[in-house]
Amino acid sequence: MSIVLTGDRPTGPLHLGHYIGSLKNRLDLQHKHQMYIMIADTQALTDYFDRPQFVRDNIWQIAQDYLAIGLDACDIFIQSTIKALPELTMYYMNLVTLARVTRNPTVKAELKQKASKESFEQSAPCGFVCYPISQAADITCVQAELIPVGIDQLPMIEQANEIVRKFNSMYKTDVLKESQAILSETSRLIGIDGNAKASKSLNNCIFLIDSPDVVKQKVMSMYTDPNHIRVSDPGNVKNNVVFHYLEAFYEDKEDLAAMKAHYKKGGLGDVTIKQKLIGILENILEPIRERRSKIKQTDVEAIVYAGCKKASKTAHEVLYKVKEAMHLNFDIN
Ligand code: TRP
Repeated sequence: MSIVLTGDRPTGPLHLGHYIGSLKNRLDLQHKHQMYIMIADTQALTDYFDRPQFVRDNIWQIAQDYLAIGLDACDIFIQSTIKALPELTMYYMNLVTLARVTRNPTVKAELKQKASKESFEQSAPCGFVCYPISQAADITCVQAELIPVGIDQLPMIEQANEIVRKFNSMYKTDVLKESQAILSETSRLIGIDGNAKASKSLNNCIFLIDSPDVVKQKVMSMYTDPNHIRVSDPGNVKNNVVFHYLEAFYEDKEDLAAMKAHYKKGGLGDVTIKQKLIGILENILEPIRERRSKIKQTDVEAIVYAGCKKASKTAHEVLYKVKEAMHLNFDIN
């Protein structure tokens, strides 16, 4: 049994990209390990510092999403309630060079997406550029060993491990532990528009809260093969969004292989494959809707607050050991 930590920024409802990239793994892991899930509001604020109410609303949205999916055998907590985190972050900041933070490929890509023509050094808040350091605090504050995440989070785990090694060697201790990512088979889902990534900001994803009508309309709008005009035409399954989704969500791989062969040969229509995909997605989404309809906000709060208390206690113990290693263990009582 290991300690597992994972987290999401509360910037919108969870979508199928999250589901296939990490949530599905978590459903399984929660029964095998001690699992924490962090709602990373402090991290979300590095980007949405001017919209705190938006972040707050999404905390409850995400917490409800977790419970609706069936993540009920783990501890869910809110990052900003853990007082040890900013303190750990502060100490870790001394162990990372400015050059190293700006070299983080995920941070670089995110800045590029946002900064338009301005150079990112001018437009990005320090808090944003340094969020991988605070993520190292997230990971170490519960002594996490396994981190189920999407592929874009690998640089964060690498950076956290660098900090752990540096801390332990600098302060001659073994108090911090290195962690390991767990990637799912489909670690990145493409958007319904064919864009490389399904993301809320690109407005190209299917949310877990979408109604059956919205799901249907989104699947029907998916790009297939522009040369597949008549049903009898041979079709291309590569770069075909519907097949990409079938690959990610259809468990009957034999039938999928047969569908692909049929589509390539000609004779399998776009509407047929889309209807098939809608059925498969609804098999996942319908039980989630059903569970959600039974959840009360007061229950969500009680569950999350209990998780906050538990994570806070663990983080405090880790912080104590960290400070001890740094000779900062003052007894002022
Ligand atoms: N950076 C992660 C994301 O954007 C969220 C996150 C914050 C996280 N802290 C974490 C993930 C700790 C794993 C572990 O998805």
